[in-house]
Amino acid sequence: MEKARETSEKSRILVIGGAGYIGSHVTREFLDQGYAVTVFDNLSLGLRRNLFPDADFVHGDIMQAMQLREVMTEGYDGCVHLAALKAAGESMTRPDAYASVNLSGTINILNEMLAAGIPNMIFSSSAAIFGSPRTLPIDEGHPKSPENFYGYTKLEIEQLMGWYDRLKGLKYAAIRYFNAAGYDVAGRVQGLEVNPQNLLPVVMETAAGMRKGMKIFGSDYPTRDGTCIRDYVHVSDLARAHVSAFEYLGRHKESIAVNLGSETGVSVLEMVQRAREITGKPIPAEVTERRAGDPAELVASSGKAKEVLGWEASCSDLDTLINSTWQVYRKNSGIS
Ligand code: UFG
Repeated sequence: MEKARETSEKSRILVIGGAGYIGSHVTREFLDQGYAVTVFDNLSLGLRRNLFPDADFVHGDIMQAMQLREVMTEGYDGCVHLAALKAAGESMTRPDAYASVNLSGTINILNEMLAAGIPNMIFSSSAAIFGSPRTLPIDEGHPKSPENFYGYTKLEIEQLMGWYDRLKGLKYAAIRYFNAAGYDVAGRVQGLEVNPQNLLPVVMETAAGMRKGMKIFGSDYPTRDGTCIRDYVHVSDLARAHVSAFEYLGRHKESIAVNLGSETGVSVLEMVQRAREITGKPIPAEVTERRAGDPAELVASSGKAKEVLGWEASCSDLDTLINSTWQVYRKNSGIS
């Protein structure tokens, strides 16, 4: 993709949920690759400070089909859809909210895309569609058996997109994130997630003194140190995959689903210990009961992403994940 091409030749991308943590990195990557980007976000979880001056912004809600219709009349070559509720634990107590936003909201988007003639969808899916791993690493052929309602909503939408492809020719890329982490290494995204539940932001909030201590959920798992192992993948690596997937759809006119991870397992204790070393902060951590629904180990096989998208993780090593996140938390907390 030539960065210097004329505005009139730029592909136009609508990034729905582009003011969120992952969405802002995806938006930055499309802009860097020379695309014209419009961000559509209701700012419920997304942040105004995650918006970039070189992208257009429309304040709108996926629950309002008319608002989607209005923005889509502008004409786009593709939509990236990241607007969703994403806390797996919460989805088990608020299935109604997750059904509305993740299912009905996405159906609104897909229907308006059909009406507007937008041919390509890049969908933010999740490793949660697989449930507890039966084999490791998890490749695309692994049985899909979500164990929380959040994962169910993602799987349901993947299947719906399969039908829209068969019946209406809509092409999609389902990108199944493993554990997204890290921040833009150039420091261009500075928004902190509101009330984060995920491991690395919790570790960082503790290091920055925003919370007194943190919990390690269980140390009696059948893993090398007894804590859960996850596959952490840098958001900027994830972001590059979205651009590659969009280009793949344009070239091959064929839908795809890929698993995206670093293919490396990191335990909770390893994450906390390395964060202590990098930040120089004590990060008090107390081992407590297991958290319901946590599989002992999740590690991706990203062989298909390499093969079909030419994608490889390039900044998902543990030190870059922690360092890039610490820079943002440090700055936000006024730590020099
Ligand atoms: N953990 C702690 N203490 C905390 C937070 C997390 O010990 O305060 C542990 C968890 O128990 C787990 C590991 O850190 O063992 C990672 O937990 P996260 O909540 O960061 O991530 P999950 O693996 O539970 O889930 C994440 C996303 C999901 C996605 C999944 C895919 O939140 O949306 O990755 O792998 F589906």
